[in-house]
Amino acid sequence: MFSFFKKKNSQTHKLCYEVDLHSHILPGIDDGSPNTEKSIGLIREMQNWGIRKIIATPHIAEETFENTPETIKNAWDLLKATLKTEGIEQEICYSAEYRIDDGFIRMFESNQLIPLPDNYLLVENSFIQAFWNLDELLFQLQLKEFKPILAHPERYAYYHNQKNIYTTMHNNGCAFQVNLLSFSGYYGKSVKEAAFWLAEQGYIDFLGTDLHNMNHVQAISSFLTTKDYTKLISKINIKNDMLK
Ligand SMILES: [Fe+2]
Repeated sequence: MFSFFKKKNSQTHKLCYEVDLHSHILPGIDDGSPNTEKSIGLIREMQNWGIRKIIATPHIAEETFENTPETIKNAWDLLKATLKTEGIEQEICYSAEYRIDDGFIRMFESNQLIPLPDNYLLVENSFIQAFWNLDELLFQLQLKEFKPILAHPERYAYYHNQKNIYTTMHNNGCAFQVNLLSFSGYYGKSVKEAAFWLAEQGYIDFLGTDLHNMNHVQAISSFLTTKDYTKLISKINIKNDMLK
């Protein structure tokens, strides 16, 4: 009887996808995990949610997280070596979460971008205002065969009263990745409302953990037990597991 209840409980906490394409679990290179020990703790939690493949996406942003393909690979190498030493099996690869700024334009023009599988590219806006030439840039990326994914569109407060911008961007070929944390209310009421609005419109192409730390783990784990979560997964049709 005990094992029956245990099994039921663990199943309720599974995520509705197996490939996570947005996390900050590489050690010591951004505001996510500071070291390999913390990275392993986060990976174990992701495994409990049923995630089989992790695409780590450290920040690359001018003046804050000036990562390069080399700094990211070094952190990935270190984490892979630690996983091996600890005997933990986990598929993990890396890309980046690119802040759209002048540094990003330079990386784009000099072919230094590290795409996700299938040439998707995870980009984020500034939280203060969108890049002045965002639409043109998204168009140029697509001309070069990249498939842009805007990270957490629901978190940009300046779009909340101009939701037609979401429609235009999505219609113009920009995919949307919404954070699980947003539905939980972790970033506040208006972000939560925007996340559910995007779900209602059918604009959610990918979900992501955007995992940085154990506070995020707790918020996501609690959300997975709620009716809101059950309601959400009945409405969306995501493509995470196409990135296997
Ligand atoms: Fe992120």
